[in-house]
Amino acid sequence: MDTSSIVILDFGSQYTQLIARRIREQNVFSVVLPCTASLDEIRAQKPMGIILSGGPCSVYDSDAPAANPAVLEMNLPVLGICYGLQFITHHLGGKVRSADKREYGNAEVSVVDKELPLFADMPTDLTVWMSHGDEAIDLPPGFHLTAKTANAVAGIANPERRIWAVQFHPEVHHTKQGTTLLRNFVFNLCKAKADWTPAHFIESTVAAIREKIGDGHAICALSGGVDSSVAAVLVHKAIGDRLTCVFVDNGVLRKNEFFKVQDNLRSKLGLNLVAVDASTRFLSKLAGVTDPETKRKVIGNEFIEVFDDEAARISQQTGGVDWLVQGTLYPDVIESSSVKGPSQTIKSHHNVGGLPETMKLKLVEPLRDLFKDEVRRIGRDLKMPEDILQRQPFPGPGLAVRILGEITPERVALLQEADDIVVEEIKKAGLYQQIWQSFAVLLPVKSVGVMGDQRTYAYTCAIRAVHSEDGMTADWVPLPYDVLKTISSRIVNEIHGINRVVYDITSKPPGTIEWE
Ligand code: XMP
Repeated sequence: MDTSSIVILDFGSQYTQLIARRIREQNVFSVVLPCTASLDEIRAQKPMGIILSGGPCSVYDSDAPAANPAVLEMNLPVLGICYGLQFITHHLGGKVRSADKREYGNAEVSVVDKELPLFADMPTDLTVWMSHGDEAIDLPPGFHLTAKTANAVAGIANPERRIWAVQFHPEVHHTKQGTTLLRNFVFNLCKAKADWTPAHFIESTVAAIREKIGDGHAICALSGGVDSSVAAVLVHKAIGDRLTCVFVDNGVLRKNEFFKVQDNLRSKLGLNLVAVDASTRFLSKLAGVTDPETKRKVIGNEFIEVFDDEAARISQQTGGVDWLVQGTLYPDVIESSSVKGPSQTIKSHHNVGGLPETMKLKLVEPLRDLFKDEVRRIGRDLKMPEDILQRQPFPGPGLAVRILGEITPERVALLQEADDIVVEEIKKAGLYQQIWQSFAVLLPVKSVGVMGDQRTYAYTCAIRAVHSEDGMTADWVPLPYDVLKTISSRIVNEIHGINRVVYDITSKPPGTIEWE
Protein backbone atom coordinates (compact mmCIF):
# COMPACT_ATOMS: atom_id res chain seq x y z
CA MET A 1 0.00 0.00 0.00
CA ASP A 2 1.43 3.39 -0.89
CA THR A 3 0.09 5.22 2.17
CA SER A 4 2.29 7.00 4.68
CA SER A 5 3.11 4.75 7.57
CA ILE A 6 4.61 5.00 11.03
CA VAL A 7 6.28 1.90 12.48
CA ILE A 8 5.95 1.31 16.21
CA LEU A 9 8.50 -1.04 17.72
CA ASP A 10 6.92 -2.88 20.62
CA PHE A 11 9.00 -3.24 23.75
CA GLY A 12 6.09 -4.87 25.56
CA SER A 13 4.15 -1.96 27.05
CA GLN A 14 0.47 -2.53 27.74
CA TYR A 15 -0.13 0.73 25.83
CA THR A 16 1.61 -0.11 22.55
CA GLN A 17 -1.60 -0.80 20.63
CA LEU A 18 -2.94 2.53 21.85
CA ILE A 19 -0.11 4.37 20.11
CA ALA A 20 -1.13 2.74 16.83
CA ARG A 21 -4.76 3.65 17.41
CA ARG A 22 -4.01 7.29 18.23
CA ILE A 23 -2.01 7.64 15.04
CA ARG A 24 -4.61 5.90 12.92
CA GLU A 25 -7.23 8.24 14.38
CA GLN A 26 -5.29 10.94 12.53
CA ASN A 27 -5.85 8.97 9.31
CA VAL A 28 -2.21 7.91 9.18
CA PHE A 29 -1.48 4.19 8.90
CA SER A 30 0.65 2.79 11.67
CA VAL A 31 1.86 -0.69 12.30
CA VAL A 32 3.21 -2.41 15.41
CA LEU A 33 6.25 -4.65 14.95
CA PRO A 34 8.05 -6.59 17.67
CA CYS A 35 11.11 -4.65 18.82
CA THR A 36 13.22 -7.51 17.46
CA ALA A 37 12.10 -6.77 13.88
CA SER A 38 15.00 -6.60 11.45
CA LEU A 39 15.85 -3.40 9.62
CA ASP A 40 14.56 -5.01 6.43
CA GLU A 41 11.23 -5.83 8.04
CA ILE A 42 10.97 -2.23 9.20
CA ARG A 43 11.93 -0.87 5.77
CA ALA A 44 9.34 -3.12 4.12
CA GLN A 45 6.66 -0.97 5.78
CA LYS A 46 8.08 2.11 4.01
CA PRO A 47 7.85 4.11 7.23
CA MET A 48 7.97 7.89 7.46
CA GLY A 49 9.01 7.59 11.11
CA ILE A 50 9.62 5.15 13.95
CA ILE A 51 8.23 5.10 17.46
CA LEU A 52 9.90 3.11 20.22
CA SER A 53 7.23 2.05 22.71
CA GLY A 54 7.34 1.73 26.45
CA GLY A 55 8.03 -1.60 28.11
CA PRO A 56 8.20 -3.29 31.47
CA CYS A 57 11.95 -3.96 31.51
CA SER A 58 14.99 -2.03 32.55
CA VAL A 59 17.67 -1.47 29.91
CA TYR A 60 20.04 -3.28 32.28
CA ASP A 61 17.90 -6.39 32.66
CA SER A 62 19.53 -9.51 31.26
CA ASP A 63 16.29 -10.22 29.41
CA ALA A 64 15.81 -6.63 28.22
CA PRO A 65 14.15 -6.75 24.77
CA ALA A 66 16.86 -7.17 22.18
CA ALA A 67 16.17 -4.44 19.67
CA ASN A 68 18.81 -3.54 17.15
CA PRO A 69 20.28 -0.12 18.11
CA ALA A 70 20.78 0.46 14.37
CA VAL A 71 17.08 1.47 14.26
CA LEU A 72 18.39 4.80 15.56
CA GLU A 73 20.59 5.15 12.47
CA MET A 74 18.02 4.62 9.74
CA ASN A 75 17.83 8.31 8.94
CA LEU A 76 14.17 8.37 9.89
CA PRO A 77 12.56 10.52 12.58
CA VAL A 78 12.40 8.56 15.85
CA LEU A 79 10.17 9.16 18.86
CA GLY A 80 11.01 7.26 22.04
CA ILE A 81 8.29 6.83 24.63
CA CYS A 82 9.13 5.86 28.23
CA TYR A 83 11.35 2.76 27.83
CA GLY A 84 11.99 4.12 24.33
CA LEU A 85 13.64 7.18 25.89
CA GLN A 86 15.78 4.97 28.11
CA PHE A 87 16.73 2.75 25.18
CA ILE A 88 17.89 5.82 23.24
CA THR A 89 19.77 7.21 26.23
CA HIS A 90 21.46 3.90 26.99
CA HIS A 91 22.49 3.08 23.42
CA LEU A 92 23.68 6.52 22.42
CA GLY A 93 26.08 7.03 25.34
CA GLY A 94 23.93 8.48 28.13
CA LYS A 95 23.16 6.95 31.50
CA VAL A 96 20.01 5.41 32.92
CA ARG A 97 19.56 4.47 36.56
CA SER A 98 17.02 2.73 38.65
CA ALA A 99 14.85 5.37 40.35
CA ASP A 100 14.32 5.08 44.10
CA LYS A 101 10.66 4.51 43.56
CA ARG A 102 8.48 3.73 40.62
CA GLU A 103 6.62 6.69 39.23
CA TYR A 104 3.13 5.64 38.25
CA GLY A 105 0.18 7.90 37.54
CA ASN A 106 -0.39 11.57 36.83
CA ALA A 107 2.60 13.90 36.90
CA GLU A 108 3.26 17.55 36.15
CA VAL A 109 5.82 18.29 33.46
CA SER A 110 7.36 21.64 32.46
CA VAL A 111 8.44 22.12 28.88
CA VAL A 112 12.01 23.46 28.87
CA ASP A 113 12.55 23.81 25.10
CA LYS A 114 9.57 25.91 24.13
CA GLU A 115 10.62 26.10 20.47
CA LEU A 116 10.67 22.34 19.95
CA PRO A 117 8.30 21.40 17.08
CA LEU A 118 7.34 18.26 19.02
CA PHE A 119 5.68 20.51 21.61
CA ALA A 120 4.07 22.93 19.10
CA ASP A 121 0.63 24.20 20.13
CA MET A 122 1.07 22.78 23.60
CA PRO A 123 1.17 24.71 26.89
CA THR A 124 4.43 24.73 28.83
CA ASP A 125 2.89 23.04 31.85
CA LEU A 126 1.62 19.58 31.02
CA THR A 127 -0.34 17.01 32.98
CA VAL A 128 0.90 13.63 31.82
CA TRP A 129 0.74 9.91 32.57
CA MET A 130 3.94 8.30 33.83
CA SER A 131 4.67 4.64 34.32
CA HIS A 132 8.34 3.82 34.81
CA GLY A 133 10.95 2.60 37.25
CA ASP A 134 14.19 3.74 35.61
CA GLU A 135 15.13 7.29 34.67
CA ALA A 136 17.71 8.99 32.46
CA ILE A 137 20.36 10.86 34.46
CA ASP A 138 23.03 11.68 31.84
CA LEU A 139 21.91 12.63 28.35
CA PRO A 140 23.73 11.16 25.35
CA PRO A 141 26.12 13.51 23.54
CA GLY A 142 24.31 15.91 21.20
CA PHE A 143 21.01 15.65 23.15
CA HIS A 144 19.43 18.38 25.20
CA LEU A 145 16.74 18.43 27.87
CA THR A 146 13.34 19.39 26.43
CA ALA A 147 11.05 18.79 29.42
CA LYS A 148 11.32 17.89 33.08
CA THR A 149 9.32 16.99 36.14
CA ALA A 150 10.21 18.48 39.54
CA ASN A 151 13.24 16.21 39.81
CA ALA A 152 13.62 14.07 36.69
CA VAL A 153 14.12 14.12 32.94
CA ALA A 154 10.78 14.09 31.06
CA GLY A 155 11.97 14.81 27.52
CA ILE A 156 15.15 14.83 25.44
CA ALA A 157 15.96 15.53 21.81
CA ASN A 158 18.67 15.65 19.22
CA PRO A 159 16.94 17.41 16.31
CA GLU A 160 20.00 17.10 14.09
CA ARG A 161 19.83 13.32 14.32
CA ARG A 162 16.03 13.58 14.19
CA ILE A 163 15.54 11.78 17.51
CA TRP A 164 13.03 12.93 20.14
CA ALA A 165 11.91 11.17 23.28
CA VAL A 166 9.55 11.65 26.20
CA GLN A 167 9.43 9.82 29.50
CA PHE A 168 5.63 10.02 29.73
CA HIS A 169 2.92 8.29 27.67
CA PRO A 170 1.33 10.61 25.10
CA GLU A 171 -0.94 7.81 23.87
CA VAL A 172 -2.85 7.53 27.15
CA HIS A 173 -5.94 9.72 27.63
CA HIS A 174 -4.65 10.97 30.99
CA THR A 175 -1.91 12.85 29.12
CA LYS A 176 -4.03 15.83 28.20
CA GLN A 177 -2.04 17.08 25.19
CA GLY A 178 -0.83 13.63 24.17
CA THR A 179 -2.66 13.59 20.86
CA THR A 180 -1.21 16.99 19.92
CA LEU A 181 2.28 15.65 20.66
CA LEU A 182 1.73 12.58 18.47
CA ARG A 183 0.25 14.77 15.72
CA ASN A 184 3.31 17.02 15.92
CA PHE A 185 5.58 14.03 15.52
CA VAL A 186 3.62 12.43 12.71
CA PHE A 187 2.83 15.53 10.64
CA ASN A 188 5.48 18.15 11.54
CA LEU A 189 8.48 15.92 12.01
CA CYS A 190 7.74 12.84 9.86
CA LYS A 191 5.77 14.81 7.24
CA ALA A 192 3.27 11.96 6.95
CA LYS A 193 0.05 12.50 5.03
CA ALA A 194 -3.43 11.83 6.38
CA ASP A 195 -4.25 9.30 3.66
CA TRP A 196 -5.41 6.33 5.73
CA THR A 197 -9.16 6.70 5.12
CA PRO A 198 -11.92 4.08 4.82
CA ALA A 199 -12.40 4.86 1.12
CA HIS A 200 -8.71 4.46 0.44
CA PHE A 201 -8.55 1.27 2.47
CA ILE A 202 -11.50 -0.25 0.64
CA GLU A 203 -10.16 0.65 -2.77
CA SER A 204 -6.66 -0.66 -2.19
CA THR A 205 -7.81 -3.77 -0.30
CA VAL A 206 -10.30 -4.77 -2.96
CA ALA A 207 -7.63 -4.33 -5.63
CA ALA A 208 -5.14 -6.38 -3.61
CA ILE A 209 -7.67 -9.20 -3.06
CA ARG A 210 -8.56 -9.25 -6.75
CA GLU A 211 -4.93 -9.61 -7.65
CA LYS A 212 -4.26 -12.24 -4.98
CA ILE A 213 -7.22 -14.50 -5.78
CA GLY A 214 -7.05 -13.98 -9.53
CA ASP A 215 -9.74 -16.16 -11.09
CA GLY A 216 -9.80 -18.58 -8.12
CA HIS A 217 -12.70 -19.40 -5.81
CA ALA A 218 -12.99 -18.58 -2.13
CA ILE A 219 -15.15 -19.67 0.77
CA CYS A 220 -15.91 -17.94 4.01
CA ALA A 221 -17.54 -19.09 7.26
CA LEU A 222 -19.95 -16.41 8.40
CA SER A 223 -21.33 -15.90 11.87
CA GLY A 224 -23.44 -12.82 11.25
CA GLY A 225 -21.00 -10.77 13.33
CA VAL A 226 -19.24 -7.67 12.15
CA ASP A 227 -15.76 -9.04 11.38
CA SER A 228 -16.61 -11.97 9.17
CA SER A 229 -19.37 -9.98 7.42
CA VAL A 230 -17.13 -7.02 6.57
CA ALA A 231 -14.39 -9.39 5.40
CA ALA A 232 -16.89 -11.20 3.18
CA VAL A 233 -18.27 -7.98 1.70
CA LEU A 234 -14.77 -6.80 0.79
CA VAL A 235 -13.93 -10.09 -0.89
CA HIS A 236 -17.32 -10.14 -2.62
CA LYS A 237 -16.59 -6.68 -3.99
CA ALA A 238 -13.34 -8.04 -5.39
CA ILE A 239 -14.44 -11.38 -6.87
CA GLY A 240 -18.25 -11.34 -6.79
CA ASP A 241 -19.98 -14.70 -6.66
CA ARG A 242 -16.72 -16.59 -6.85
CA LEU A 243 -16.92 -16.17 -3.09
CA THR A 244 -19.31 -18.61 -1.42
CA CYS A 245 -20.23 -17.85 2.20
CA VAL A 246 -21.31 -20.60 4.55
CA PHE A 247 -23.49 -19.95 7.56
CA VAL A 248 -24.13 -22.87 9.90
CA ASP A 249 -26.98 -23.23 12.38
CA ASN A 250 -25.27 -25.05 15.24
CA GLY A 251 -28.45 -25.29 17.29
CA VAL A 252 -27.24 -22.77 19.86
CA LEU A 253 -27.86 -19.56 17.94
CA ARG A 254 -30.14 -16.80 19.23
CA LYS A 255 -33.87 -16.76 18.61
CA ASN A 256 -34.61 -16.44 14.86
CA GLU A 257 -30.95 -15.71 14.20
CA PHE A 258 -30.62 -18.31 11.47
CA PHE A 259 -33.23 -16.45 9.41
CA LYS A 260 -32.22 -12.91 10.38
CA VAL A 261 -28.61 -13.50 9.40
CA GLN A 262 -29.62 -15.03 6.08
CA ASP A 263 -31.82 -12.04 5.37
CA ASN A 264 -29.03 -9.61 6.21
CA LEU A 265 -26.32 -11.37 4.28
CA ARG A 266 -28.24 -12.59 1.27
CA SER A 267 -30.96 -10.01 0.74
CA LYS A 268 -29.30 -6.89 2.10
CA LEU A 269 -25.67 -7.53 1.19
CA GLY A 270 -26.21 -9.70 -1.86
CA LEU A 271 -23.71 -12.32 -0.74
CA ASN A 272 -23.66 -15.75 -2.33
CA LEU A 273 -24.69 -17.67 0.78
CA VAL A 274 -25.17 -21.30 1.68
CA ALA A 275 -27.13 -21.70 4.92
CA VAL A 276 -26.78 -25.09 6.58
CA ASP A 277 -29.20 -26.18 9.27
CA ALA A 278 -27.05 -28.59 11.25
CA SER A 279 -28.78 -27.95 14.58
CA THR A 280 -29.92 -31.55 15.13
CA ARG A 281 -26.43 -32.84 14.45
CA PHE A 282 -24.85 -30.42 16.94
CA LEU A 283 -27.46 -30.92 19.66
CA SER A 284 -27.18 -34.69 19.53
CA LYS A 285 -23.39 -34.42 19.90
CA LEU A 286 -23.86 -32.03 22.82
CA ALA A 287 -26.33 -34.28 24.65
CA GLY A 288 -25.05 -35.12 28.12
CA VAL A 289 -22.01 -32.82 27.87
CA THR A 290 -21.67 -30.49 30.87
CA ASP A 291 -18.00 -29.52 30.94
CA PRO A 292 -17.48 -26.06 29.35
CA GLU A 293 -14.28 -26.90 27.52
CA THR A 294 -15.75 -30.14 26.19
CA LYS A 295 -18.75 -28.18 24.90
CA ARG A 296 -16.38 -25.86 23.05
CA LYS A 297 -14.46 -28.79 21.60
CA VAL A 298 -17.59 -30.61 20.48
CA ILE A 299 -18.92 -27.49 18.77
CA GLY A 300 -15.54 -26.63 17.26
CA ASN A 301 -15.00 -30.12 15.87
CA GLU A 302 -18.52 -30.49 14.59
CA PHE A 303 -18.29 -27.12 12.92
CA ILE A 304 -15.15 -28.18 11.12
CA GLU A 305 -16.84 -31.32 9.86
CA VAL A 306 -19.90 -29.47 8.59
CA PHE A 307 -17.76 -26.81 6.99
CA ASP A 308 -15.46 -29.40 5.45
CA ASP A 309 -18.44 -31.17 3.86
CA GLU A 310 -19.77 -27.90 2.46
CA ALA A 311 -16.35 -26.89 1.18
CA ALA A 312 -16.05 -30.22 -0.65
CA ARG A 313 -19.50 -29.76 -2.18
CA ILE A 314 -18.78 -26.16 -3.24
CA SER A 315 -15.42 -27.22 -4.56
CA GLN A 316 -17.09 -29.81 -6.76
CA GLN A 317 -19.61 -27.31 -8.07
CA THR A 318 -17.07 -24.60 -8.81
CA GLY A 319 -14.23 -26.73 -10.04
CA GLY A 320 -12.05 -26.14 -6.98
CA VAL A 321 -11.76 -23.78 -4.02
CA ASP A 322 -8.34 -22.52 -3.03
CA TRP A 323 -9.00 -19.62 -0.68
CA LEU A 324 -10.46 -19.25 2.77
CA VAL A 325 -11.57 -15.79 3.92
CA GLN A 326 -11.16 -15.02 7.61
CA GLY A 327 -12.05 -11.95 9.66
CA THR A 328 -8.80 -11.92 11.67
CA LEU A 329 -8.24 -8.53 13.31
CA TYR A 330 -5.07 -6.63 14.08
CA PRO A 331 -5.02 -7.25 17.85
CA ASP A 332 -4.88 -11.03 17.16
CA VAL A 333 -1.99 -10.49 14.79
CA ILE A 334 -0.06 -8.34 17.26
CA GLU A 335 -0.85 -10.69 20.11
CA SER A 336 0.67 -13.64 18.31
CA SER A 337 3.85 -11.78 17.37
CA SER A 338 4.32 -9.69 20.50
CA VAL A 339 7.36 -9.78 22.75
CA LYS A 340 5.15 -10.78 25.66
CA GLY A 341 4.96 -14.44 26.51
CA PRO A 342 1.81 -16.28 25.62
CA SER A 343 -0.82 -15.55 28.23
CA GLN A 344 -2.31 -18.46 30.08
CA THR A 345 -5.30 -20.02 28.37
CA ILE A 346 -8.28 -19.42 30.62
CA LYS A 347 -10.79 -20.58 28.01
CA SER A 348 -10.06 -21.91 24.57
CA HIS A 349 -11.86 -19.60 22.19
CA HIS A 350 -12.91 -21.52 19.13
CA ASN A 351 -14.01 -18.92 16.69
CA VAL A 352 -16.01 -20.03 13.71
CA GLY A 353 -12.96 -19.23 11.64
CA GLY A 354 -10.76 -21.77 13.44
CA LEU A 355 -10.53 -24.29 10.64
CA PRO A 356 -8.11 -27.16 10.18
CA GLU A 357 -4.87 -26.82 8.29
CA THR A 358 -5.64 -30.08 6.54
CA MET A 359 -8.05 -28.18 4.32
CA LYS A 360 -4.99 -26.81 2.53
CA LEU A 361 -6.70 -23.55 1.77
CA LYS A 362 -4.74 -20.35 1.42
CA LEU A 363 -5.85 -17.54 3.69
CA VAL A 364 -7.31 -14.18 2.73
CA GLU A 365 -7.49 -11.92 5.78
CA PRO A 366 -8.55 -8.47 4.60
CA LEU A 367 -8.93 -7.07 8.14
CA ARG A 368 -5.51 -8.09 9.45
CA ASP A 369 -4.48 -4.46 9.74
CA LEU A 370 -7.59 -3.17 11.46
CA PHE A 371 -8.90 -2.59 14.96
CA LYS A 372 -12.53 -3.37 15.71
CA ASP A 373 -13.71 0.25 15.54
CA GLU A 374 -11.94 0.66 12.22
CA VAL A 375 -13.78 -2.40 10.89
CA ARG A 376 -17.04 -0.65 11.80
CA ARG A 377 -15.93 2.50 9.96
CA ILE A 378 -15.12 0.43 6.89
CA GLY A 379 -18.46 -1.37 7.16
CA ARG A 380 -20.25 1.96 7.34
CA ASP A 381 -18.43 3.17 4.26
CA LEU A 382 -19.52 -0.04 2.54
CA LYS A 383 -23.11 0.91 3.49
CA MET A 384 -23.62 -2.24 5.53
CA PRO A 385 -26.69 -2.38 7.82
CA GLU A 386 -26.14 -0.89 11.28
CA ASP A 387 -27.55 -3.99 13.00
CA ILE A 388 -24.57 -5.95 11.69
CA LEU A 389 -22.04 -3.24 12.46
CA GLN A 390 -23.32 -2.57 15.98
CA ARG A 391 -23.98 -6.16 16.94
CA GLN A 392 -22.45 -7.01 20.30
CA PRO A 393 -19.84 -9.79 20.22
CA PHE A 394 -21.38 -13.26 20.35
CA PRO A 395 -19.19 -16.25 21.19
CA GLY A 396 -18.59 -18.95 18.58
CA PRO A 397 -20.09 -21.68 20.83
CA GLY A 398 -23.14 -19.43 21.18
CA LEU A 399 -25.72 -20.15 23.84
CA ALA A 400 -23.91 -23.40 24.74
CA VAL A 401 -21.60 -21.49 27.10
CA ARG A 402 -24.58 -19.67 28.59
CA ILE A 403 -26.53 -22.81 29.47
CA LEU A 404 -24.83 -24.16 32.54
CA GLY A 405 -24.93 -27.90 32.77
CA GLU A 406 -26.49 -30.03 30.09
CA ILE A 407 -27.72 -28.55 26.82
CA THR A 408 -31.15 -29.80 25.80
CA PRO A 409 -33.47 -28.44 23.12
CA GLU A 410 -35.84 -27.35 25.91
CA ARG A 411 -33.12 -25.37 27.67
CA VAL A 412 -31.94 -23.80 24.43
CA ALA A 413 -35.50 -22.64 23.73
CA LEU A 414 -35.81 -21.15 27.24
CA LEU A 415 -32.58 -19.24 26.93
CA GLN A 416 -33.39 -18.03 23.42
CA GLU A 417 -36.57 -16.46 24.78
CA ALA A 418 -34.81 -14.89 27.76
CA ASP A 419 -31.94 -13.60 25.61
CA ASP A 420 -34.39 -12.10 23.17
CA ILE A 421 -36.14 -10.17 25.95
CA VAL A 422 -32.84 -8.88 27.35
CA VAL A 423 -31.64 -7.65 23.95
CA GLU A 424 -35.01 -6.10 23.13
CA GLU A 425 -35.27 -4.20 26.42
CA ILE A 426 -31.65 -3.04 26.34
CA LYS A 427 -32.22 -1.75 22.81
CA LYS A 428 -35.49 -0.09 23.83
CA ALA A 429 -33.65 1.71 26.64
CA GLY A 430 -31.13 3.01 24.09
CA LEU A 431 -28.27 1.18 25.84
CA TYR A 432 -27.38 -1.55 23.35
CA GLN A 433 -24.58 0.29 21.59
CA GLN A 434 -22.97 1.60 24.78
CA ILE A 435 -22.69 -1.87 26.27
CA TRP A 436 -20.02 -4.36 25.20
CA GLN A 437 -22.23 -7.39 25.87
CA SER A 438 -25.61 -7.88 27.50
CA PHE A 439 -27.22 -11.30 27.71
CA ALA A 440 -29.03 -13.93 29.76
CA VAL A 441 -27.57 -17.09 31.26
CA LEU A 442 -29.64 -20.14 32.13
CA LEU A 443 -28.67 -21.69 35.46
CA PRO A 444 -29.25 -25.34 36.27
CA VAL A 445 -30.87 -24.24 39.52
CA LYS A 446 -34.56 -24.67 40.17
CA SER A 447 -36.28 -22.77 42.91
CA VAL A 448 -39.77 -22.39 44.30
CA GLY A 449 -41.98 -19.53 43.25
CA VAL A 450 -45.61 -18.60 43.24
CA MET A 451 -47.67 -17.53 40.26
CA GLY A 452 -51.31 -16.71 40.73
CA ASP A 453 -52.30 -19.25 43.32
CA GLN A 454 -49.94 -21.86 41.98
CA ARG A 455 -46.64 -23.01 43.37
CA THR A 456 -43.93 -23.09 40.67
CA TYR A 457 -40.63 -24.92 40.63
CA ALA A 458 -38.56 -23.67 37.72
CA TYR A 459 -35.18 -22.47 36.44
CA THR A 460 -33.22 -19.37 37.40
CA CYS A 461 -31.90 -16.97 34.82
CA ALA A 462 -28.99 -14.59 35.38
CA ILE A 463 -28.64 -11.30 33.52
CA ARG A 464 -25.17 -10.08 32.62
CA ALA A 465 -24.20 -6.72 31.13
CA VAL A 466 -20.60 -5.52 30.91
CA HIS A 467 -18.61 -2.60 29.64
CA SER A 468 -15.30 -3.51 28.05
CA GLU A 469 -12.79 -2.22 25.52
CA ASP A 470 -11.62 -5.54 24.15
CA GLY A 471 -13.12 -8.33 26.26
CA MET A 472 -9.88 -8.76 28.23
CA THR A 473 -11.16 -6.84 31.25
CA ALA A 474 -14.73 -5.81 31.95
CA ASP A 475 -16.89 -3.94 34.44
CA TRP A 476 -20.46 -4.89 35.16
CA VAL A 477 -22.92 -2.25 34.03
CA PRO A 478 -25.17 -0.62 36.64
CA LEU A 479 -28.28 -1.04 34.48
CA PRO A 480 -31.10 1.33 35.46
CA TYR A 481 -33.51 -0.30 37.94
CA ASP A 482 -36.50 0.23 35.67
CA VAL A 483 -34.76 -1.65 32.83
CA LEU A 484 -33.88 -4.52 35.17
CA LYS A 485 -37.42 -4.50 36.49
CA THR A 486 -38.95 -4.76 33.02
CA ILE A 487 -36.53 -7.50 31.96
CA SER A 488 -37.19 -9.50 35.11
CA SER A 489 -40.95 -9.23 35.00
CA ARG A 490 -41.12 -10.00 31.29
CA ILE A 491 -38.92 -13.08 31.64
CA VAL A 492 -40.86 -14.50 34.55
CA ASN A 493 -44.25 -13.70 33.05
CA GLU A 494 -43.60 -14.60 29.44
CA ILE A 495 -41.36 -17.64 29.76
CA HIS A 496 -42.90 -20.73 31.15
CA GLY A 497 -40.01 -22.51 32.85
CA ILE A 498 -38.12 -19.61 34.43
CA ASN A 499 -39.42 -18.20 37.70
CA ARG A 500 -36.46 -16.27 39.11
CA VAL A 501 -34.08 -13.65 37.69
CA VAL A 502 -30.81 -12.53 39.28
CA TYR A 503 -28.30 -9.87 38.21
CA ASP A 504 -24.59 -10.67 37.91
CA ILE A 505 -22.46 -7.94 39.53
CA THR A 506 -19.01 -9.45 38.95
CA SER A 507 -16.25 -7.67 37.06
CA LYS A 508 -13.53 -9.33 35.00
CA PRO A 509 -11.17 -10.16 36.59
CA PRO A 510 -11.92 -12.03 38.81
CA GLY A 511 -15.01 -13.21 36.90
CA THR A 512 -15.07 -13.88 33.18
CA ILE A 513 -17.66 -12.37 30.85
CA GLU A 514 -19.30 -15.65 29.90
CA TRP A 515 -20.29 -17.98 32.72
CA GLU A 516 -18.52 -20.92 31.12
P1 XMP B 1 -14.58 -14.40 28.73
O1 XMP B 1 -15.77 -15.21 29.10
O2 XMP B 1 -13.34 -15.22 28.47
O3 XMP B 1 -14.95 -13.72 27.34
O4 XMP B 1 -14.32 -13.27 29.69
C1 XMP B 1 -14.19 -12.74 26.70
C2 XMP B 1 -14.83 -12.49 25.35
O5 XMP B 1 -14.69 -13.65 24.54
C3 XMP B 1 -15.95 -14.17 24.17
N1 XMP B 1 -15.85 -15.63 24.27
C4 XMP B 1 -15.74 -16.44 23.21
N2 XMP B 1 -15.73 -16.16 21.89
N3 XMP B 1 -15.51 -18.46 21.44
C5 XMP B 1 -15.65 -17.19 21.01
O6 XMP B 1 -15.69 -16.96 19.79
C6 XMP B 1 -15.50 -18.81 22.75
O7 XMP B 1 -15.38 -19.98 23.11
C7 XMP B 1 -15.63 -17.74 23.68
N4 XMP B 1 -15.65 -17.69 25.04
C8 XMP B 1 -15.79 -16.39 25.37
C9 XMP B 1 -16.93 -13.58 25.16
O8 XMP B 1 -18.24 -13.54 24.62
C10 XMP B 1 -16.33 -12.23 25.41
O9 XMP B 1 -16.64 -11.32 24.38
